[in-house]
Amino acid sequence: MDNPIVWLNGELVPLADAKISVLDRGFLFGDGIYEVVPVYAGKPFRLAPHLDRLERSLAEVRIANPYSRDEWAALVQRLADACGSDPCSVYLQVTRGVAPRQHAFPRDAKPTVYGIATPLTLPNAEKVEQGVAAVTHEDRRWQNCHIKSTSLLGNVLMAQHAAENDAMETLQFRGGFLTEGSSSNVWVVKNGQMFAPPRDNLILEGIRYTLLEQLCAACGVPFSARAIGEAEVRAADELLITSATKEVLAVVQLDGKPVGAGVPGPVFRALYAAYQRAKGAA
Ligand code: PDD
Repeated sequence: MDNPIVWLNGELVPLADAKISVLDRGFLFGDGIYEVVPVYAGKPFRLAPHLDRLERSLAEVRIANPYSRDEWAALVQRLADACGSDPCSVYLQVTRGVAPRQHAFPRDAKPTVYGIATPLTLPNAEKVEQGVAAVTHEDRRWQNCHIKSTSLLGNVLMAQHAAENDAMETLQFRGGFLTEGSSSNVWVVKNGQMFAPPRDNLILEGIRYTLLEQLCAACGVPFSARAIGEAEVRAADELLITSATKEVLAVVQLDGKPVGAGVPGPVFRALYAAYQRAKGAA
């Protein structure tokens, strides 16, 4: 895996030979969007909603979609097959392309398309069984967090904040209300009910958002999306985070204090098991 085959602008090439211009707007401005699709047993998991979101992100930032739906699906499969690891994750990125550095859109740049599949290292048994720690921070990102943009400096700083505090994730609050992690959605359990922040411009709607909602229904856990105040988060019985690469994890410590009983709770355990079943059934 030192020199995997990657996709760059219509060709499969070894990573070491994949070169882009320093004038690429992804490099200069973070002017691009991306997707991360997990692949289990050679099959992309929840591919359709991932490709829906890719199309939505492109439309939001007004980059012309370079490929048809079938071409995207074929590319994901091709990269996953080339990777040869199970599970793996496919990363796709589209930037506005190469042009002299001017902030406004160039008239005729061609989008740069990059894709790579890498082995997916899922959280180990200790993290699943014992849960993880999180810290909190004010959400200082822009107000278009619903776009899966490669402009991730705000998220990078929050991931670093977690790393420097021996935590797996930083849970963010905007004006006293929960938004999301640096690279995950956040779920709050109270009295057997599940809550998550509304799907709006302040969070990225994870593909696991709808999935977890469906798994809640299957497990008999009532779910509602609504604004969640900071005090509610700190008084939660359970906190969960979800993402393509973390799947679903229990947060058992927040800013050094135990969450609920301080161990992964029954709602986490039910949803984790349901998630594993959903993977197997895909
Ligand atoms: N991140 N919110 C943010 C800010 C994220 O970056 C992610 C995922 C999610 C969860 O989305 P999903 O369930 O579709 O993975 C929520 C990916 C994994 C990443 O940036 O690598």
